[in-house]
Amino acid sequence: MSPQDAAKRAAAEAALQYIEPGEVLGVGTGSTVNHFIDLIAERRLQADIPGAVSSSNASTERLHKIGVKVLDLNQTGTLSLYVDGADEANRHLQLIKGGGAALTREKIVAAASRKFVCIVDESKLVGVLGKFPLPVEVIPMARSYVGRELTRLGGRPVFREGVTTDNGNVILDVHGLDIVDPVRLENEINGLAGVVCVGLFARRPADVLIVGSPSGTHVLKAA
Ligand code: A5P
Repeated sequence: MSPQDAAKRAAAEAALQYIEPGEVLGVGTGSTVNHFIDLIAERRLQADIPGAVSSSNASTERLHKIGVKVLDLNQTGTLSLYVDGADEANRHLQLIKGGGAALTREKIVAAASRKFVCIVDESKLVGVLGKFPLPVEVIPMARSYVGRELTRLGGRPVFREGVTTDNGNVILDVHGLDIVDPVRLENEINGLAGVVCVGLFARRPADVLIVGSPSGTHVLKAA
């Protein structure tokens, strides 16, 4: 296992303690979350989990494989816990997500959860968000228009070739942003016609950020 993978696994392992037996669990997407799902199986915790709401088809498949039932968010109501990774995180627990193209469902599940525990390796922790290109999910016919507007906002949008989201849309990855006011930028991009979702999680940041390294973890909590 590479040092980065060991760090992801350490963060995922530390998140297990947040699982509340008997409660439906929100589960995100990505390689760090894959460790979390695998650890649930390794520790035989499936019996504690009556079901999960999944943020992507990929995670749904992995949950099914370990015997966790996947439920519809419309049937579960508010979730007590959502565990997901991120592409970048700052010390205010604001995030960039969507590297795996699952940002819209991730944002919905985060919004519908009382506690959002984000699990990352230490390479994801930054001072200012924006080095990781910001994913924006867009209705296909609005791609060029939204691209021009994102350029006006100071970014360099790049069409993510060959990717269709689970919702049938496309992704623009916006390079070159220095995101000093994440809440404002999230609101601005959300307001563009044709934008389904922006991968900035600033209005609803994480509540707990577990940062893994090969030698262990440290935890940041919302102020
Ligand atoms: C999925 O769309 C993303 O938001 C993921 O949560 C993010 O890319 C984290 O991925 P890794 O855990 O693979 O780094």
